[in-house]
Amino acid sequence: MTESQRSQRLFFALWPDAQTRARIAKQARVLARRQGRPVAAENLHITLAFIGASGPEQRSCLEAQGTQVRVEPFCLELSRVGYFPRARVLWVGPQTTPESLLGLVVRLNRVLAPCGYRPEPRPFAVHVTLFRKANPVREAPAFEPVPWPVRDFCLVESVSDRNGVHYQVLRRFR
Ligand code: 2AM
Repeated sequence: MTESQRSQRLFFALWPDAQTRARIAKQARVLARRQGRPVAAENLHITLAFIGASGPEQRSCLEAQGTQVRVEPFCLELSRVGYFPRARVLWVGPQTTPESLLGLVVRLNRVLAPCGYRPEPRPFAVHVTLFRKANPVREAPAFEPVPWPVRDFCLVESVSDRNGVHYQVLRRFR
């Protein structure tokens, strides 16, 4: 299979700047006692739309449609720690989701439809996964608020190799 034919596992995400990433990672280390498998600092992100396996044509469509979406800059504040019991994921998110972020997801869902994307029926839950295979938490642990200035979103490839999974930002949309 040539490079141009291969299938890529793609998703759209908010990708933190280096300072925000370092702050989230530092706070996550404080929670490390909770066990579970920590997500590597360079992998921390918020998924906006998970596409999955995509061929070159679908990728071109996603990139073209992504350029149709403008991002109004906004600031997220991460301070709410939560747990998804089925996925066994410990995450951090905002106390309330800014309207600008909800609007961004709605617009993205709309423009990606011609590329065959169907959003998940369940409501969008803004989260940064911090730990996988995590133990349940009875009481949400404290998380010193981390401000995250958002100015763009990204198309990202999830690459699995023998060292695990890592993410490659393919393109930024402002
Ligand atoms: P998670 O962090 O909550 O596991 C890349 O896999 C990203 O897409 C991850 O952030 C993952 O969210 C998210 N994602 C959403 N739906 C997914 C799915 N059906 N399969 C794999 N990843 C998914």
